[in-house]
Amino acid sequence: SAAEKGGYDYFMLKEIAEQPKAVADTLLGRIDLAGNLCLDEVRIPASVLREVSKVVIVACGTAYHAGMIAKYAIEHWTRIPCETELASEFRYRDPILDQRTLVIAISQSGETMDTLMALRHAREQGAKVLAICNTNGSTIPRESDAVLYTHAGPEVAVASTKAFLTQLVACYLVALYLGQVRGTKWGDEILSVIRELSEIATQVDEVLETMEPVRELARSLASKNTVLFLGRHVGFPVALEGALKLKELAYMHAEGFAAGELKHGPIALIEQDVPVVVVVPSPRGRSVLHDKIVSNIQEIRARGARTIVIAERGDEAVAPYADHLIEIPVTPTLLQPLVATVPLQVFACELATARGNEVDQPRNLAKSVTVE
Ligand code: G6P
Repeated sequence: SAAEKGGYDYFMLKEIAEQPKAVADTLLGRIDLAGNLCLDEVRIPASVLREVSKVVIVACGTAYHAGMIAKYAIEHWTRIPCETELASEFRYRDPILDQRTLVIAISQSGETMDTLMALRHAREQGAKVLAICNTNGSTIPRESDAVLYTHAGPEVAVASTKAFLTQLVACYLVALYLGQVRGTKWGDEILSVIRELSEIATQVDEVLETMEPVRELARSLASKNTVLFLGRHVGFPVALEGALKLKELAYMHAEGFAAGELKHGPIALIEQDVPVVVVVPSPRGRSVLHDKIVSNIQEIRARGARTIVIAERGDEAVAPYADHLIEIPVTPTLLQPLVATVPLQVFACELATARGNEVDQPRNLAKSVTVE
């Protein structure tokens, strides 16, 4: 009913709007400004976490994209090798697991069969499993050694939005916690990440306030057949997530690519007027990546692409090559997905609506897939 949707036309719109609160609730009481993590709820002893030699993340769909981003944070901050794998592929390839492997299973519903089977396999091999889950008492946390709950609140729309942002937050918390129990000395970079995490809900809110041009753009693209997405570093999973949302909701051909792969194939797809959404990393920090993606944008534009550029506010180097510029707040590189994903959700939702699709219940999809 309309009341359930809090005055919004669709659950998805309501859930997109709830993201600042979902993010804030997931951080609440778990980290202070000095960077002390309080995750006592994660019932894996510090002595075990100190011995972890490898982290393996398993998940499906949108949660898998959160896991891809988590890999960048975990390896960069803790120096523990980390791989992220589609849960449905995991157990069938005889993965290498032992008592020193920490498996992180990410699932909004806690009922996804592929993810459940992957974690069962991991535990049989002696690995410890930590679930990141949004649903209290669901099967995945019940079968795990420990759980860190995301506090997104119930997510009804099939396409995941607020759960995704809170999965990212939970992954950052787990990465920092691993660092803390292992005695990592926080350098300036991590300290600034911790400070910025406390600002992130406000920044997500700022993004939401500036979405009207994105909706307008989405409506103007309603008759297109294809939209491509490019990103690099943590912007690559964001590009994949943008493409997934568009497939799920708008039933359009949408593909995400790592921008560095452009020259190895995808550039052949660029033709006159094809919309390409590019997620641009901050010009500060890893500026090499920024410069490389700017030249990617020039390359595709020279071949006729219509460039839709998501870039940090004040990024003047990229602006001249953007047919449409979507500005997002300044964040540390690793946190950028929390703000960069939001315009892509709004874009997909609006495009789907413009095409007359049922946004909350896309055809052929289920909110949680309880079969393998
Ligand atoms: C289904 C949903 C997706 C979701 C995926 C994983 O495919 O349609 O939105 O990302 O399952 O779900 P989970 O509950 O495990 O996060």
